[in-house]
Amino acid sequence: MDKIPELLTTISGEVIDNAVDWEKFRRGEILNLFEQYVYGVRDIERPENLYFNIENEKKEYGMLIKEIEGGFDDFSFPFKLYLPENTKKRVPVFVFVMHEYMENNIVIDKKGNLICGVSCVPVKDITERGFGIAVLPTRSIYRDWNHRANYRHGIFAAVKPAYGRRKNSWATISAWAWGASRVMDYLESDKNVDCSSVAVIGHSRGGKTALWAAATDNRFKLAVSNNSGCMGAAILRGKEGEHAKDINMSDWFCENFKEFSDFESFLPVDQHMLLALMAPRYIYVTSSSEDSWADPKAEFKACKMANEAYELYLGMAGLVAPGDEPELEKPYHEGHIAYHIKKGGHSITKYDWEKIMDYFDKIK
Ligand code: GCU
Repeated sequence: MDKIPELLTTISGEVIDNAVDWEKFRRGEILNLFEQYVYGVRDIERPENLYFNIENEKKEYGMLIKEIEGGFDDFSFPFKLYLPENTKKRVPVFVFVMHEYMENNIVIDKKGNLICGVSCVPVKDITERGFGIAVLPTRSIYRDWNHRANYRHGIFAAVKPAYGRRKNSWATISAWAWGASRVMDYLESDKNVDCSSVAVIGHSRGGKTALWAAATDNRFKLAVSNNSGCMGAAILRGKEGEHAKDINMSDWFCENFKEFSDFESFLPVDQHMLLALMAPRYIYVTSSSEDSWADPKAEFKACKMANEAYELYLGMAGLVAPGDEPELEKPYHEGHIAYHIKKGGHSITKYDWEKIMDYFDKIK
């Protein structure tokens, strides 16, 4: 198998053995490599004229629901915030990155939960447990790749640098992650929200996005990757299922990444390094037993390999799980990296949400 890049060896060959040097030298180096070769460099962060309007505020299904529009210049992006109905204190909040397939197939059940086949975003159960949840449809920022818009719409049209697109220009995952950060901007201004306890979460392509959002924005306390797989939480080299050449059918990654489609061994990063960018904050990775396209083993392995970064912070543990393989439906919640593998296929189910909420409750 191709050699996996060393997490703690800098480009110049220095071995990092403490948190200060990690933060000063190695973390930035890794972030930069991911920007240059995988997710692309953003043309904009927070626009100066960013605004938020609460378009509608209502009480429904025993929740307080705010419909918000964010925007700048001629670009706007709607999202919703679900809160406990009568909250007196500030609550911890999830930012859920909802991809188009989910959004198109949502039905609201009797309780007010959002259901999409076996997957769900149980907004009502979440608020009942004392959390809030903001749901950002990726469509608000940029349509998914099946629409082949070639970066001509959405946020890419709103922010058109004079130099045009480059091989390292940001692509869709980075744009959606940018959206999650803008939702965080809003949350900082909402008096119902405890903005020191915000988790960014997504399923599949949304999970890839959540990880990059948290890597690039340290206001997120917890990053939750649900079944994110290839170029999400799974080690790429030697994984089962999807690889760079498959995922490069999409427009999720920058042009530079396309060069690695048949040459993964040349990539200067692997995904344990992405997880490590969260240290010393919190990560939760989930897998599903029948999700070989994502590859649960490769996701578990990345968590284990990210531990080295956490151990630099004296006394801190990353993933605490004995052995090379996780037990089915046994959540590992002890360290700063949590993990579970559920029975079943590619999905985000009530089981996943319950365990994720248990962990968020513990660390919030
Ligand atoms: C495809 C893609 C995956 C992605 C998944 C999803 O299967 O190959 O990388 O995670 O879609 O977003 O559902």
